[in-house]
Amino acid sequence: MIRILAIETSCDETAAAVVEDGRRILSNVVASQVDLHAQYGGVFPEIASRAHIEAIVPVIEQAMREAHMGYDDPDAVAVTYGPGLAGSLLVGVNAAKGIALGRGLPLVGVNHLEAHIYAHWLNVTDDDAATPSLTFPPSAEGTDRETSPPQAGGIEGGLEFPLLALLVSGGHTELILMRDHGDYEYLGGTLDDAAGEAFDKVGRLLGLPYPGGPSIQEAAKGGNPAAVDFPRAWLEDSYDFSFSGLKTAVLREVETYSTPPQGQLLTDLAASFQAAVVDVLSAKTAQAAEEYGVTGVLLSGGVSANTALREMTTERVSVPVHYPPPFLCTDNAAMIGACAYRRFIAGERAGWDLDVVPGLRLV
Ligand code: KG4
Ligand code: ZN
Repeated sequence: MIRILAIETSCDETAAAVVEDGRRILSNVVASQVDLHAQYGGVFPEIASRAHIEAIVPVIEQAMREAHMGYDDPDAVAVTYGPGLAGSLLVGVNAAKGIALGRGLPLVGVNHLEAHIYAHWLNVTDDDAATPSLTFPPSAEGTDRETSPPQAGGIEGGLEFPLLALLVSGGHTELILMRDHGDYEYLGGTLDDAAGEAFDKVGRLLGLPYPGGPSIQEAAKGGNPAAVDFPRAWLEDSYDFSFSGLKTAVLREVETYSTPPQGQLLTDLAASFQAAVVDVLSAKTAQAAEEYGVTGVLLSGGVSANTALREMTTERVSVPVHYPPPFLCTDNAAMIGACAYRRFIAGERAGWDLDVVPGLRLV
C-alpha cells in the first residue's frame, strides 16, 4: 500500500490530497481563489501567489487530518512543478520540498497536464461524495457528483490501451494518444486560445461571472444552440484547433446590440457559442478515435466538466467515452496523487533541485 501526499498550486486553486495506490482518495481538499479573481475577470498572478502562501499550510493540514495521517506516514510527497504560473507553482514546490526534506520522504514532481488525464484512474465512491473534503468548493459545479457515474476502475477495470485523451483546460487544448502509462503522442492542439480560455473570454463578453465555463453552461440552459451560426475553425486534415476567430465572432455579434444581451437572447448566444466549441472538439475527437483505433476516450481538464461536451462526444465517438466527476475535472490534488503513483512505482524521484517549469509540456 502506497500513500502519497499530493500538492497542487499551479493556478488559482490551493489543493492537497492523500491518495492510496493511485486510486483511493483518502482526502481531497481544494481552496479556490475564484472569488478573489472574479473582480478582475481572470486570474491575477500576484494575488494568486499570495493567496497560495496563505492557504497552503491549512490546506495540507486539513488533507492530512482527513486522511488520519501524521507527517511521517506518507510514502512520498508529490507536487505539480508545471505548467502554470511561476509564482503559484513555487509555493507548492517549496511546501512539498519542506515536508519531504523535513521528514526524509521521497519527492515526486508531477506534470499538471498528465495529472488531469490520471484523474480517470481515481475511484470515486459514495464515501467520497459523502466526505466534506472540499473546504471551499470551487463552485456549485465542483460539488455536483451526480452527473458522472463512477468509472468502474479505469484501465484495471477492463479498459486497455491505446486510449485517446482530449485535454481541455484553461490553458490547454490537446488531443493526445496514450499508448501506455507515460507513453504519449501529441496529435494536435490549439493554435491560439485554449477551449477554457475561450469560455472565460466569451463569458466576460457576455457579462457573465468568472470563470466563464460554468457560467456559460448555466446561461445556455434552455437556449437554442442554432440561434447564431458561429464559425467553426475546422483546420482540415489536422487535429489542431483554433478558437480566437469564434471569440471575435461573438464580440462582433454582441456589438450589434445597443444594450448588453439579456434574457432569451443571452441564453441563445451562450448556447450557440457553446455548441460551436463542442462541435469542433467532439468531431475531431471522434475522428482521431477512429483513425488510431483506441479502446476509449478520456475527457480531461476543467472543460471536460461541460455537460454538452460530454453528451456530444459520447454521441459521436464509437468507443466508450469516460469523464471524471466534475470535482475531479477541475484542478485538484487527488489527480496529482494518482499520477505521482505511476511515477513513484516506476522509480522516479525528484531531486532537491526540482524547479518550477511554467511552460512544461506533456509531449
Ligand atoms: O483544468 P482547470 O481547472 O484549470 C487549468 O488547468 O486551466 O480548467 C479551468 C477551465 C476554465 O477555463 C473554466 O472556465 C473551464 O475550465 N471550465 C468549464 C466548465 N467548468 C470549468 N468550461 C466549460 N464548461 C464547464 N462546465
Ligand atoms: Zn488544470
